[in-house]
Amino acid sequence: MELFAGMLAFLLWLQVQAVHGQSVQMDSSKSGFVGTQVELRCIFVNSNPPVKISQVTWQKLSNGTKQNVATANPTLGVSILSPFKERVGFKQAAALQRHQMEDTTIVFSNLQLSDEAAYICEYTTFPAGNRENMVNLTVFARPMTRMTLTSPTIVARGKKRNMTVATCTSANGKPPSTIKWSTLLKGEATLQETRNPNGTVTVRSSYVVVPSRETHKQKLTCIVTYRGERITDSVVLNVQYEPEVKIEGFDGNWYLNRQNVQLTCRADANPPVTIYQWKLLNGSLPSNVEIKNNTLFFKGPVTYDLAGTYVCVAINGIGTRTGVVDVNITDMNAASYAASNLPINPTPRGNGIPPEQHNAGAAIGGAVGGVILVIVAAILLFVFLRRRQRTFKGDYSTKKHVFGNGYSKAGAMPAHPPIPKNLQYPDDSDDEKKPTQISNTGGFEASDRNFDTESEDLKRPYFTVDEGESRDYGERTLAFQYDPEPEIADDMISQTDGSVISKKEWYV
Ligand SMILES: *[C@@H]1O[C@H](CO)[C@@H](O)[C@H](O)[C@H]1NC(C)=O
Ligand SMILES: *[C@@H]1O[C@H](CO)[C@@H](O)[C@H](O)[C@H]1NC(C)=O
Ligand SMILES: *[C@@H]1O[C@H](CO)[C@@H](O)[C@H](O)[C@H]1NC(C)=O
Ligand SMILES: *[C@@H]1O[C@H](CO)[C@@H](O)[C@H](O)[C@H]1NC(C)=O
Ligand SMILES: *[C@@H]1O[C@H](CO)[C@@H](O)[C@H](O)[C@H]1NC(C)=O
Ligand SMILES: *[C@@H]1O[C@H](CO)[C@@H](O)[C@H](O)[C@H]1NC(C)=O
Ligand SMILES: *[C@@H]1O[C@H](CO)[C@@H](O)[C@H](O)[C@H]1NC(C)=O
Repeated sequence: MELFAGMLAFLLWLQVQAVHGQSVQMDSSKSGFVGTQVELRCIFVNSNPPVKISQVTWQKLSNGTKQNVATANPTLGVSILSPFKERVGFKQAAALQRHQMEDTTIVFSNLQLSDEAAYICEYTTFPAGNRENMVNLTVFARPMTRMTLTSPTIVARGKKRNMTVATCTSANGKPPSTIKWSTLLKGEATLQETRNPNGTVTVRSSYVVVPSRETHKQKLTCIVTYRGERITDSVVLNVQYEPEVKIEGFDGNWYLNRQNVQLTCRADANPPVTIYQWKLLNGSLPSNVEIKNNTLFFKGPVTYDLAGTYVCVAINGIGTRTGVVDVNITDMNAASYAASNLPINPTPRGNGIPPEQHNAGAAIGGAVGGVILVIVAAILLFVFLRRRQRTFKGDYSTKKHVFGNGYSKAGAMPAHPPIPKNLQYPDDSDDEKKPTQISNTGGFEASDRNFDTESEDLKRPYFTVDEGESRDYGERTLAFQYDPEPEIADDMISQTDGSVISKKEWYV
């Protein structure tokens, strides 16, 4: 069975050799660019001895019709036919002269688009008959790519409308190119393809945007892809637009007698603003103004006459636009006005201890300090009573002085010397009312004297009873007798170190 199959295969092979003992070898396809040179290979292969080659003919098969290109004849020589005469030749012309007809490769030079076709190479032999093969020749045309701005400068008028700002063209390419855009500009691309009679295609894409101030100086990149090859070209838009105006200089705080105020007209424009004009609505500009370029300088102190609506007119080659500012005049510096309204000590308890920390400290201190409180209080009372017995000769002025120290140390006085007389405090914090009482009573002059000398103590977060003698502690507590309803026990506050201070010290 196997033997039979093997013999069958051998017989088939013999038959194939008999029929196709001669063959014409060619490339299946070839391609080249316009103007270049291309070889169309044609080789006669003969496995069986010998056949006589009587003629070789090259034919162009185009649109279903055949056209002779060249012939080679052992006796008559070679011949290139008419439209191909200048550009086509046999590669092995010398061998053909010696009647060696096996290689009849032809060479096209200066390739034309019209050369694109199928080419047949036909061998006429004796006695085997005709043998032929075919090659498809494709001709490429490299496109001309260019990017152009619609105009060097684009004018953005007030009325917004779509406009082609740039065009990218890939002309007379074969095969056709594709065009894409890369830009941050918001816009749309249009695409148009035109097929030329010679088979090339012109691809044109336009980029359409609404020109505006924002599109000025934006970059547009056109990406042309031709047979996998990328060609990019970029332009930067130059958009002209009318001025965009704003007036700077009025801070809402033009108070009476303020010096050297000015208004500046800022305009974003392309081309730059050539003329700035200032106007005061319903009136004429104050006499003390001086105009320098785009700035209005008000000489001398601010008066009520300066109030009004100021208009700046900015003009460039494209248009005219205005900026407006309403100037009002106040009778007081807003900064000092605001300062006078601020609470003098914004932290309620004035210790500088964050509330969480204070609470945590109070919790721990409450537990530990609770026990110690009794002991310390007993010792303090004991020492106090003894000292009082032995040494107390103090009068109220010294107490006031001590209290004054505490006052400044507690940081209750603002580090803001020019405080107007009519101090006002928010009602929602009674802690802050107490210093008011102090300053309003006009007492404790010592505190004022010590304000500067001990001002560095303001930085201390809080102070404790060891600031003075234990005697002072007792005196201090007594010195707070201005408090209408002293509740000593309730007002004692445990510190984290287990000590206690008077709540009233926190208040001051
Ligand atoms: C040559 O091109 C024709 C049509 O363009 C096609 O039918 C044929 O198969 C091609 N031949 C080869 C060998 O590629
Ligand atoms: C191909 O043949 C058709 C009709 O046979 C004709 O209309 C057409 O113009 C021809 N094209 C070329 C390129 O010769
Ligand atoms: C511009 O063209 C786009 C798309 O064609 C459109 O959506 C847009 O409304 C147009 N804008 C103006 C101002 O014409
Ligand atoms: C193809 O035709 C276009 C216009 O008809 C022409 O500009 C171009 O040069 C031609 N291309 C070639 C390779 O002949
Ligand atoms: C004055 O001008 C400022 C800023 O424009 C404005 O906030 C304020 O309300 C004006 N005051 C009065 C009294 O018109
Ligand atoms: C300002 O003048 C214009 C006309 O010039 C008038 O219509 C407008 O009512 C005036 N405004 C004031 C506040 O006087
Ligand atoms: C104002 O304009 C003059 C010319 O008109 C120029 O020389 C000067 O530098 C400008 N000043 C400012 C502050 O722009």
